[in-house]
Parts: sequence; C-alpha cells; structure tokens
Amino acid sequence: MKINQVSTASFLDQKPGTSGLRKKVTVFQQAHYLENFVQSIFDSLTIPAGAILVLGGDGRYYNSVAIQTIIKMAAANGFAKVMVGQGGILSTPAASHVIRLYKTFGGLILSASHNPGGKDGDFGIKYNVSNGSPASETITEAVFALSKKITTYKIADLPDVDLNVLGETQFDEFNVSVFNPVMDYADLMATLFDFEAIKSLLASGFKMKFDGMHAVTGPYAKEIFLNRLQASADALMNCDPSEDFGGGHPDPNLTYAEDLVKIMYAGAQSPDFGAASDGDGDRNMILGKGFFVTPSDSLALIAANAKLVQGYEGGIAGVARSMPTSGAVDRVAEQLGIPCFETPTGWKFFGNLMDAGKVTICGEESFGTSSSHVREKDGLWAVLFWLNILAIKRQSVDQIVKRHWVQFGRNVYSRHDYEAIPNDAANSVIAHIHSRFATLPNQVFGGHIVKSCDDFSYTDPIDGSESTKQGIRILFTDGSRIVFRLSGTGTEGATLRVYLEAFEPDSANHHLDAQVALSVMIEIALQISELKARTGRNTPTVIT
Ligand code: G1P
Ligand code: ZN
Repeated sequence: MKINQVSTASFLDQKPGTSGLRKKVTVFQQAHYLENFVQSIFDSLTIPAGAILVLGGDGRYYNSVAIQTIIKMAAANGFAKVMVGQGGILSTPAASHVIRLYKTFGGLILSASHNPGGKDGDFGIKYNVSNGSPASETITEAVFALSKKITTYKIADLPDVDLNVLGETQFDEFNVSVFNPVMDYADLMATLFDFEAIKSLLASGFKMKFDGMHAVTGPYAKEIFLNRLQASADALMNCDPSEDFGGGHPDPNLTYAEDLVKIMYAGAQSPDFGAASDGDGDRNMILGKGFFVTPSDSLALIAANAKLVQGYEGGIAGVARSMPTSGAVDRVAEQLGIPCFETPTGWKFFGNLMDAGKVTICGEESFGTSSSHVREKDGLWAVLFWLNILAIKRQSVDQIVKRHWVQFGRNVYSRHDYEAIPNDAANSVIAHIHSRFATLPNQVFGGHIVKSCDDFSYTDPIDGSESTKQGIRILFTDGSRIVFRLSGTGTEGATLRVYLEAFEPDSANHHLDAQVALSVMIEIALQISELKARTGRNTPTVIT
C-alpha cells in the first residue's frame, strides 16, 4: 500500500462547534479542506495497533465523496480497519451504538444534522470516541489547534471501495468492511422496548405517522415499524432518504416538519400519534392528535414513566438536561429521589455522567432525548419510548401530558431563534446584557423580580474539566427564567437563541398556549436585551 504525504496549507476556520465542524458544502469542497481536518483529528489521537474506525453519515450531498477520502486517510494513518455503513449511511445514534458494540477505537460521523443539505447546503464531520460519545472539548480544542498549523496529510493510494456492496475488502494489512447500518440498531431497540405490546397497540386501530423528512432514519424506520412492528405502510412518510432531503430543512419542529404538522392538526381524522426525526436521526418531535409535546416535557415524561418500559424497569440512576432545557425533569427527579444534572448545551457533556453510572436518561430542549444505551441523542428511541408508554397506558398523548402537568405542575416553555443575523449585532446584544449584570438583580419587570443573572459555567463532576460562557441566565424570584445563547452550529452569520420559561402550578391555566402564557416573559426578554433595536429583527425566525 503506497502512502502519500501531501503538502497543504492550513485553514484558520476549522473550529468545531457544539457538534463537530459544520460548513457549507462549497467550503468542504476546497482542495485539502476535508483532508486537513481529518488529519488534525488523527494527529490529536494515539492510534493503537489494530484500531477500528467506524464511518458513515446521514447521506447528504458530499457524504460518499468524503467517505472515500477518509477510508484512504485512515489506512495511511495506521487504522487496521474501517467499518462503513452500506451506502455510506449511519444515523448518529446507530454510529454510537456500533462504536460501542464492536469495541472500536472511535468513529467519524458525517452530518450537519438538521441543517439543509444539497450542493448549496451544509456538510459536517464529527469525531466520536470509543464509548460512542462525541469527543470532549479537550479533544476538539486540540484538533482546532492542530488544524491551524498543519503542513502535510497522509493518504493511501487505494482504489475507491464500492459502498453499496456488503462485505470486506482487504488491502495488504488494511481492511474495509461495508456492513448493514440498520440491523444492529434495530436489534438494540428490540431489547429496550416491548415490541409485542407496541405491535398490539398498532393492530388495535391506533394510528401513527412517522416523518423521516427524507433523511437518514428512513431505512431504520422501515425495518423497525414495517418489518418488526407490522405498522401499515401509511404509518411512514418521507422515508426515502435523498442527498438534499427532498429540498427541505430536516429539522423536526413545528416550522420545518410542516407536512406532518398539517396531518396531525387535521381534526378528528388525524392519527393518534405523530413523530419526526432530523437529518442524522438523533432528534425527535412528538405530537398527539392536534397536540405538540415540548421536548422538555417529553424528557420529563419519559423519566417519570421509565419503569413501565422493559429496558428501564429496574429504575433509572439519574437524569441530566442541558441548562436551557426546562426544569420539568428536575421535578420528576426530585419525586423519584434521583439526582438531576444541569450541563452546558451539547450532547458531549452527558457522556462522562453516563459512563460513571450517574445518569440513565438525558435530554435537551432542542428535540434531543436519549439514554445510556448509546452516547448520542436518539430520535427513534424517543419515538419507541412514547409508543411503549402509549401501548401500556392506552391514553391519548394529550391526556398523558396533561395528567403529568397536574401531578408535577407545568414548566411552560418556548425558544425563540433569530437566525442569520450579523455577528456584530448578535455580539452587541450579548455584550449589552452583560453590561447590565450588576444592576439587574432586584429590578422588577412586568411584576417579575430579577433574582440573579450570570453566565453559565460548568465543572464536569467526573473529570473536573471546566466549560465557561455557556449562555446568559436571568433568573426571577418566582422561578421564571430567560436564557440568551449564541448558537454553535450555524453556518451563516449568528443565530441568537432566547429561551423562555415560567412555572405554572395551577391546572386551571395549563390549557394556555405557551406563547400566550409566556407573553410577559417575551416582552421582558426583548426589553432587557434591546434585541429589536440591535438586530433590526421584529420577530423570531423560528419559534419552538
Ligand atoms: C443546537 C442545539 C443543541 C444541540 C446541537 C446539536 O446547538 O441547541 O441543544 O446539542 O444543536 O444538535 P446550538 O446551535 O444551539 O449550539
Ligand atoms: Zn441531528
């Protein structure tokens, strides 16, 4: 096997964000761009003899080109084997599972998650370590540092591998194995959930609709829902993946999953249960007939009902949520007498807690929920969890949520995103709020008294690593809260996220629409931040 050392010049923008490096496809298509970043990842690692690399992605445009390059670079950098999902496909949770199941060294996941795909869309790449978890900030910072001074990369002179044909190809001492990306994952789901119970629910006249958003979960959904759970074919929509996600924006929320939302809000004939997943299969949205379950409530409900589900019937050790996620799950943890951890945004902060056995279930307000069965969030897992709960409770989705609120109170919640605003404007909003830190406490806004404000920071209880500047919190004495954060996943300008929360113990008010119930909080957020004046935006781009 001939190995070439290729001279290159560094790019200075290869800083991984909340979840790997995400850029426009055209940026990745620049000569040496992908290679530089992959080499920087490999250089940050000590690759032992016999190391196996798992490789796959969400099938977006540039996926297969990148895979061929990475296989050759893995060969040149000392990996013994690359396991690549057939067709270059691996959902993010399936990749995490395969990394763990086959005790591999790590994996590269090619995805820009819910960002649009296609020639003019986004591409991304992320490294996951041997426990299946996204690389820690220590690793991603090392990768960024290396990427700024790289001068050469190594690539083997190998022919392309046919990614569509299952089986192994040997090149001297290097092996490429193309494997079925769906089966191991589907088998894992069958151990966690009562497929028989779900099957009888689906056979009882209960109607479900799953929207694959033309993205990676399509093949997984067909195997699980059609083959194993015998759902009728019309239970699935948009389950044929395409390189540009059918021209859509594969983000499962009320704005972008509009086809599904229409079906679920069509009155009496709507299905009983609706769900969607994103580009790489780690996000989920849960809907009932004309009813939206906020991801924060979904997390709380999953934790509260975990004992009903076979994979969790022994109880859960603890829960974790990202800081901007609502405190609904905290109330469940308190009642269960288990710990609840508050981490910065991004899945990489949950891995240590799960490895240490402190946390079983965790989630984020951004449509991510999962458990220690993998080290990523897992869209289909959440959908199956809900179906399993529904199969046992035999109540409607909205009944289950409303009864949960009666028991625990309702954490009314919403996130307002202002996308693609100029960086300067976004930074000025953040700087302005910072400048008010000293004077805000004890001030009264619309009847709410500010208790404290800070910039969230986190010390990992397992390895002691510190993460600072993780979002501004303004906490009120009545438990309401406003959080401001800049996105770490966007590729155009800045995205400012405003997270709003208020606690409503009185069930007489639980029926209120979140935007109505939070209208005073929304006004306060705009007033404190001077957002409209500083960004020129009068309304959010997306409300979830
Ligand atoms: C967003 C979400 C965050 C999630 C990440 C990856 O990151 O807010 O919760 O972990 O995508 O899916 P952000 O763009 O806010 O940095
Ligand atoms: Zn995703």
